[in-house]
Amino acid sequence: MIKVVVFDAYGTLFDVHSISALAESLYPGQGAAISALWRDKQIEYTRLVTQSDAQGVGGSRYYQSFWDLTQAALRYTLARQKLVHSKDHEDALMAQYARLTAFSENLGVLQQLRAMGLPTAILSNGSPDMLASAVASAGFTELLSRVISVDGIRLFKTAPQCYGLVLQAFEVQADEVLFVSSNAWDALGASWFGFTTLWVNRQNLPAETIGPLPSYTGPDLTRVLEVLALTH
Ligand code: LAC
Repeated sequence: MIKVVVFDAYGTLFDVHSISALAESLYPGQGAAISALWRDKQIEYTRLVTQSDAQGVGGSRYYQSFWDLTQAALRYTLARQKLVHSKDHEDALMAQYARLTAFSENLGVLQQLRAMGLPTAILSNGSPDMLASAVASAGFTELLSRVISVDGIRLFKTAPQCYGLVLQAFEVQADEVLFVSSNAWDALGASWFGFTTLWVNRQNLPAETIGPLPSYTGPDLTRVLEVLALTH
C-alpha cells in the first residue's frame, strides 16, 4: 500500500536538457554537448563532495550547495569545450536553470494525485531556493505536500541519510513510499534504501547493470497513476 509519492526534481519533474536551446543560441553547435556534460559534471561533483567525507558529523565538510555545484559544473563544461567564458552567458544559463521547463504531463499527474488525496513531495539534491523557484514557475506549489532538500544535512543522494529525510517528514514505512525518478542511479539508491521505486525511463536507456531493478518502470510520469492502481 503506497501512502506517499515522492518525486526527484531534476530530470524527473523538470527537464534539465531544456537549457540546451539557450546554450545552442549562445554557443552555436554546442548546445547538446554543453547540456549533457554540464549535467554529468554536476552529478559527479555531488558524489565527489559526499563520498569524500560521507561520515562527517553534520554532513560533508566539502559540501557546497547544488546551486554552487551547478555553477561550478557549468564553468568546467565551458572550459572543457574550449568555449569563452562570459559572465553574461553564465548568468543567462544559470537563470534558465532556476526556471527549467517541466515535462508536459507532470501538472496533470500532480493534479490527479491531489484529487486522490495522496500526499506528495519532492526529495531533491537541489538547494531550497532553486527548488522553490522551479516549483513556482511550473505551477506546482499548491500540488505538493512537501519540498524536501538535502541541503539541511549537507549530503547528496545517494547517501541513505538523504532518502531517510522522507521518513522524518511522513509517518510511513520505507516500502509505503513510491519514489519516482528518471535518474536510474537515483531509483537504484532509493531501492537500496527500501523504497518502492518507479524509474521513469524518459530516454529509453538500459537499466543499471548492478543492484536490484526498480519496482516499476514506465516512459513518463503518467505511469505513477497506473502503479497506484496496481498497488491499491
Ligand atoms: C535531484 C537531481 C539529482 O533533483 O535530479 O535530486
